[in-house]
This record gives sequence, C-alpha cells and structure tokens, in this order.
Amino acid sequence: MHLGRTTLSKFLIQQLRDIDGGSDLGALLVDVAAAVKTIAAMTAKGALGGFLGELDNLNIQGETQKKLDVLANETMIRSCEWGGLVAGMVSEELEAPYVLPSEFERGRYLLVFDPLDGSSNTDVNVSVGSIFSVLVHPRPGSPSEHDYLQPGHRQVAAGYAIYGPATMLVLTVGKGTHGFTLDREIGNFILTHPNLAIPARSSEFAINASNARFWEPPVQRYVTECQAGLAGVRERDFNMRWIASMVAEVHRILMRGGVFMYPRDTRDASRPGRLRLLYEANPISLLIEQAGGRSTTGRERILELAPDALHQRVPVILGSREEVERIERYHADFDAGTDRPFESPLFHERSLFRAELTV
Ligand code: F6P
Ligand code: MN
Repeated sequence: MHLGRTTLSKFLIQQLRDIDGGSDLGALLVDVAAAVKTIAAMTAKGALGGFLGELDNLNIQGETQKKLDVLANETMIRSCEWGGLVAGMVSEELEAPYVLPSEFERGRYLLVFDPLDGSSNTDVNVSVGSIFSVLVHPRPGSPSEHDYLQPGHRQVAAGYAIYGPATMLVLTVGKGTHGFTLDREIGNFILTHPNLAIPARSSEFAINASNARFWEPPVQRYVTECQAGLAGVRERDFNMRWIASMVAEVHRILMRGGVFMYPRDTRDASRPGRLRLLYEANPISLLIEQAGGRSTTGRERILELAPDALHQRVPVILGSREEVERIERYHADFDAGTDRPFESPLFHERSLFRAELTV
C-alpha cells in the first residue's frame, strides 16, 4: 500500500473483502468516520463555535453534560441510524439503548460508543476523542439491552478518533491496528500509520496519582518501584504522563509504548473502576491487543469479561506487554500472599494494609 494514497474507504474494501457481511461493516465504518469529521469540525472551532461550556443536566453517569457531549452524541446517531446498517446503538450519554425510528431499516450491527471521551478537556483546549465498538446483533428483530452485553472478544470492529493538533482515526477489524490522518482540505482520512506495534518494553506510565491512597497494594507497588528509578528494583528511570483523556493516553501508547492505568480503587465500593466496559475499555482493549499490547483489570483479560450492565465500570491496565504482565504478576502475588519483600519497599505497607482489612 502506498502511504498518502490509501483512503479509509479503499483500505476498508481491501480489509473486509473476504469477511462475511464485510461491505456492510465497511459502510458503517464510513458512516462513523463521517460523524467523526463533523465532531472534529465542532471541536476545532473552540470558543468561536459557541459549543463550549456545560448544560444544566447530568448524564446517566452522574456527570455534568457538556454541550459538546450532547452534540457529538447526536452527530453519531444521525450519521449511523438511517443506512440500514445498525439495529440499535448504545451511547455513554443515553441511559437506555437508542431505538431507531420505525422508518429506518434494521441492520445486522450494534454500534456502541462514547461520543466525546475526556470532554472535561474541551474547555481547556486539550485533546479529546470518540470511541466506538461494533458488535453483531445476535438475532433478528429489535435489540434488547441483553443483546449488547457481549464480551469484548466478539467485537467485529473497534476504534477511536482523536481530536488533537491533527484529527486521526485509529481502527481495527481484527487484522491489526491502523491509523488514518484527516486531510482537512480534501476531507479524506488517509492511511498514515499502518500496522501499529506497541513496543513490549517501556519506561513510561500514566495514572492519576491523586488517587494513590485509594489504590490496591499491587498498583502502589508498581508505581513506587517506577518512581524509585535507577536506584530501585527496576534499575532504570521512568517518565510519567497524565492527560485525563484516555484516547490521548492510548494514542501515545500506540505510538511509543507505555502503560495506562485506571485501576480498581477503594473510593466508592459501588464503582470497581472509572472506565466503562462496553464503550471505553472493550474497544480500546481490542486496539491495544491488535497492536501487540495487553489489557487487563489486573486479574482478568478485559476482552473476556462477561458484561452485566450497559454502563458497567471496570478497572483498566493496558499497554506495553512486559509492563502489563509485571502488573498482573503483582496482583497474583498479592492475592496469593506471596509478594517477595526484598523486591518491594511497599511490602511492609502491604502487611499493614492486610492487617487493617482483617480488623
Ligand atoms: O471517560 C473517562 C475519562 O474522561 C478518561 O478519558 C480519562 O482517562 C479519565 O476519565 C480521567 O479521569 P480523572 O478525572 O480521574 O483524571
Ligand atoms: Mn469517556
């Protein structure tokens, strides 16, 4: 393939040629890309568009909705509902699944999305994104809530758009992870980053360190060891980043490696994590795995989780394979009570933590 000349449509025709229902899937992804171009134009206008700021209402997550959250949500729905390609949609911004108007033909796919991820960043002009996941509707007729509750390994396509200095679309149909850059003058997505591969080793991590006191000991151990740098057990210095926009963190990891963590914490027992399984963790995990990385809760592969609710939250630890495997090992060691004290300055804290738990 010639870089700079492969448009998204041409790429999809080639990748989906031998897949059952491939042309419909390609057409749906082109509809998603059309919505992404509109959202890119809205976010790029900044204060001049009149789209910044908050609305009075809260969404289903109890978060204040931004004007751009609502506009991005409507843009995605309007772009994908009419083509006879989807049977229904689930969005972060809607409590219940979106039911297509009766005049539109029902298609074979379910589209699940977060229309504007990291939207607290819009008012400060920092990168945000859209995340999407495509599942096959398992039966004829209108989908019920249950039809969306499929494990992530059943996704037939997943991707995100990042609205940064350049707008990019990164997607997978299960044949690697590929990045396209929007040529704004022409209006085409052009394949610029084929076959992304995350380096297995890395020395960069991303976590919201203000939550450190709520983390579980295995995560505390990992971060403390990274912070100890050259003089510590890791014997090298680490770098840290936190953008508060998962799409932007994941994009950096796809480009140069690293680890992103929004782990389980003890802030709120009803929330085993921050990120939503169906439209954040699952699509991002498929992209990461297709690029050679790993994605886990610390204890289970994200793509194997059986969802039990549309807006369910999960712990997420993803990125460079060797680092994620190490963090998984720390969880297993902790659960088995076999952490080796000489490897971790936190061993004693862990003992304290366990003592508190058994009181
Ligand atoms: O949608 C969730 C999200 O906005 C992610 O994009 C981001 O990684 C995270 O929340 C930021 O969380 P916090 O506000 O705790 O930094
Ligand atoms: Mn989000």
